[in-house]
Amino acid sequence: MMSPDLLYKRKTYGSNTIMDSKELIALDLKHIWHPCSQMKDYEDFEPLHITSASGSYLHTADGRDIIDAISSWWCKSLGHRHPEIRQAVNDQLDKFEHIIMANTTHETIVELSYRLAQICPPLDKVFYADNGSTSVEIAIKMSLQYHHQTGHREKTRFMALHNGYHGESILTLAAGDCELYTKPYKTLMPEFLKTPPLVYCNGIGSEGWEKYPEDAWKTIEKQLNEMSDTLSGIVFEPIIQGSGGMKIYSPDLLRRLRQWADKHDVHLIADEIMTGFGRCGKMMACEYAGIAPDFVCFSKSMTAGWAPMAATLCSTEVYNAFYDDYFSGKAFLHSNTYTGYAPGVAAALATMKIYERDKFIENAPAFNRKLMDGMRRVAQETGALVNLRGLGHMAAADIINPDTGKPFDYKLRIGYKCYLEAVKLGALLRPLGDTLYFLPPFNTDDATLEKLAEIAAQALNNTIESYKQGS
Ligand SMILES: Cc1ncc(COP(=O)(O)O)c(C=O)c1O
Repeated sequence: MMSPDLLYKRKTYGSNTIMDSKELIALDLKHIWHPCSQMKDYEDFEPLHITSASGSYLHTADGRDIIDAISSWWCKSLGHRHPEIRQAVNDQLDKFEHIIMANTTHETIVELSYRLAQICPPLDKVFYADNGSTSVEIAIKMSLQYHHQTGHREKTRFMALHNGYHGESILTLAAGDCELYTKPYKTLMPEFLKTPPLVYCNGIGSEGWEKYPEDAWKTIEKQLNEMSDTLSGIVFEPIIQGSGGMKIYSPDLLRRLRQWADKHDVHLIADEIMTGFGRCGKMMACEYAGIAPDFVCFSKSMTAGWAPMAATLCSTEVYNAFYDDYFSGKAFLHSNTYTGYAPGVAAALATMKIYERDKFIENAPAFNRKLMDGMRRVAQETGALVNLRGLGHMAAADIINPDTGKPFDYKLRIGYKCYLEAVKLGALLRPLGDTLYFLPPFNTDDATLEKLAEIAAQALNNTIESYKQGS
């Protein structure tokens, strides 16, 4: 057994006296199973020893400042250690850190809920959870139970968009469509119908943004019509499919789904976990379509990445279907220990106030232009990007081989190798397969955005050069 003394070995790096990096990493790899990773990859790429983070940067033990280009899994919308959110969390911790949410309340959660209820009328009831996947499960469960309790017991099936991602629990894996994440668990997953592949576009004003192609809609409509009587809800990531490759589709598809769902008494369940709270350039991506879904799920940017926290919103009409005497058995008896985790509530409230004051939604188009300029620069300097696209605080493009104009064989893991290069150069990019994307904190300054583009171009060029040299 490793000596516990090891934990007390310290080394001085600049002004920091911290645990020796080599030994810390050895201990990490001995005990930690990192998420979404093939652990064998860590043989060549050790975990970064982070000692602090601030704004859009992660700071490492060996004194490097690394741009957090994907906002630490898409949640740090206001960057690291935002002083006002920290103050709000500290103020909350001075009062209490966590209390059971059944039968209790407090000022912060009431104010937050009031504000959340203004985002998407008529969705004015808020059910809290502690992670995004659970908030989607909550919406699915509520939809099913609603139909059960309103005389439509036949409405038991769900449908989701092709290429979607909704989380890692078994039910949300079933709702999602990423083979890479679901394959080993198929035997456990309930049936969840999927639409045919979607037609994508590159963002506002691009071809295909205004109108979803009629023939493509007809195919979806036909499939929906065939199951309309038994369908409870349709689950989707509105406008941007994140994990599926930052793909953008026309808001017109959502308008059509809304119309169809209204006719057939089917719920629309909008998973705004990545797109919501400003990431897409609005509080909700559904706003681009001018529709209100029946359920909306928020997480990630909701607390600006300060706490595991999520919320599912629904209407009073849905809520009323659960409201009855106790022995009617109609209550929604879902609970998670950290439902309404108070520091998360405080962080979410502070986040909303900062968004309003600093006008992050209003300024999103200007920010997007800068992100897209950066992506265009990478494309020009490498000749290796196509399908440049973006919306709000996100820009993406697909990597191709500049010599053939075709995608690389996925087995070459070009995106992953580009990620390794970029980390060496000072940016944490983490492409999705061979899709490169920028999803930084909304308050990232211009100099950092320029540096990010420079690093991404250099990293991609280095990667392609190594490929050409056969290494
Ligand atoms: C669209 C979407 N839905 C759901 C989730 C799952 O959220 P969590 O990781 O908090 O469970 C994610 C996470 O990336 C997401 O992007």
